[in-house]
Amino acid sequence: MSERETWATRAGFILAAVGSAVGLGNIWQFPFKTAQFGGATFLVVYLVAAFGIGLPAILAEFVIGRKSNLNTIGAFEKLGYRNWRFVGVLGLVTGFWILSYYSVVGGWVLRYVGGSLTGAYFGDSAAYFSSIAAGPDAIALHAVFMALVVGIVAFGIEDGIEKATKFMVPSILVILVALAAWAFTLPGSGPGYGYFLSPDLSQLRLTVATTDGFPFVSFGGPLAEIIPFAVSQAFFSLSLGMGAMITYASYIDGDESLFGDGATIVVFNSLIGILAGLVVIPLLFAQGVEPGSGGAGALFISVAGAFASIPFGRVVGVVFFGVVLVAALSSAISLLEVVVAYAIDNYAVSRPQVAVGLGAVIFLLGLPSAWDTAWLTWFDNLAYQLFLPLSVLGILVFVGWVFGRPALEELLRGTSFGHGVGATWLWTVRSVVFLAVVVTLVLGLVTLFG
Ligand code: PHE
Ligand code: NA
Repeated sequence: MSERETWATRAGFILAAVGSAVGLGNIWQFPFKTAQFGGATFLVVYLVAAFGIGLPAILAEFVIGRKSNLNTIGAFEKLGYRNWRFVGVLGLVTGFWILSYYSVVGGWVLRYVGGSLTGAYFGDSAAYFSSIAAGPDAIALHAVFMALVVGIVAFGIEDGIEKATKFMVPSILVILVALAAWAFTLPGSGPGYGYFLSPDLSQLRLTVATTDGFPFVSFGGPLAEIIPFAVSQAFFSLSLGMGAMITYASYIDGDESLFGDGATIVVFNSLIGILAGLVVIPLLFAQGVEPGSGGAGALFISVAGAFASIPFGRVVGVVFFGVVLVAALSSAISLLEVVVAYAIDNYAVSRPQVAVGLGAVIFLLGLPSAWDTAWLTWFDNLAYQLFLPLSVLGILVFVGWVFGRPALEELLRGTSFGHGVGATWLWTVRSVVFLAVVVTLVLGLVTLFG
């Protein structure tokens, strides 16, 4: 067997992982979910979830990946726990599942880049969205998006993914900063900042009440609803539970600090979500659009509608949707890489062959979502509320209790931290993080089947 690929540089790994993390979840979902859950209050809870729960969890995936240098299924076997391969399988299936409809949304984005150029959505932006979101058009664009993803992955780790994301991630950052500055100049955007950035802390209050004489603790506001959502959003946003971070970390060849890498990724991922909010929310306020209204098509309908009525709207539209496209692509390649890595680690097949073959299968799986947005919503709900938390739970239990001590040593390798730091991490994984995931899973199941 030929030698397994590695990242050329540490920065290459970090940028690729940031590229995976930063995607539709940040630019499309995050601003809208923040608006839906009341603005800044959600932002605060989300940031706590990203750093308090997402960071320890991403480190758990890094440890599995770097220690094993294998794909997300083979990793468990290599570490000596053959029976835990099912956790890897769960992650791989989740990634496969998510990519199928992620690519359909990627197709919409492609369409909106073109639509901004020609002004196609400048009339009735809601009608335009429903005319392109489902049906033959959506299928064709889903195919084009998938083809782009396959094209990059076929070139491999160093020449494909690392080269592409090295250019993609900095451009996303620079352009979002420019767009946020532009949104600031729009008349009427002012109140958007208060809405997005100043939390109503009374919503985060704990109260003790009694029912039939039994005391119970409850939250003063909608926190019980926000927490599980913020936790799932943090996982999705950090590309956890889909084998992506395990796979990317498996190409690390060196003793760098996984703490440093993980913290950098969480910071950039949060920063780009906030920047996207600073573009989208003021833009909506400037247009007098109620943020948080609208479902899957919200970004496309209301943001595109705003571009229609703004000077230089076409240019700004191309730039904005161009950034969304780049972000979606750099995430989608990490999802395809999970399955490609598994195939080339195990079978005598070439990378380009596998990329094309699996890309075709994922395209087929995405057909229902491209045909009818109700299917897309169903795929998304199942991923979000079931597959994702279940898969993360598997990883946490494995790292926290089964693998345990060697995980801690792997995490400390390449750092100057003492044992206490590693022990604290392991303790956090076993307690706070574990509990948060269990609660999220239970509440997700209640929403799905209750
Ligand atoms: N993290 C990506 C986003 O925020 C989505 C994603 C999930 C990408 C899982 C890869 C793996 O859009
Ligand atoms: Na993200």
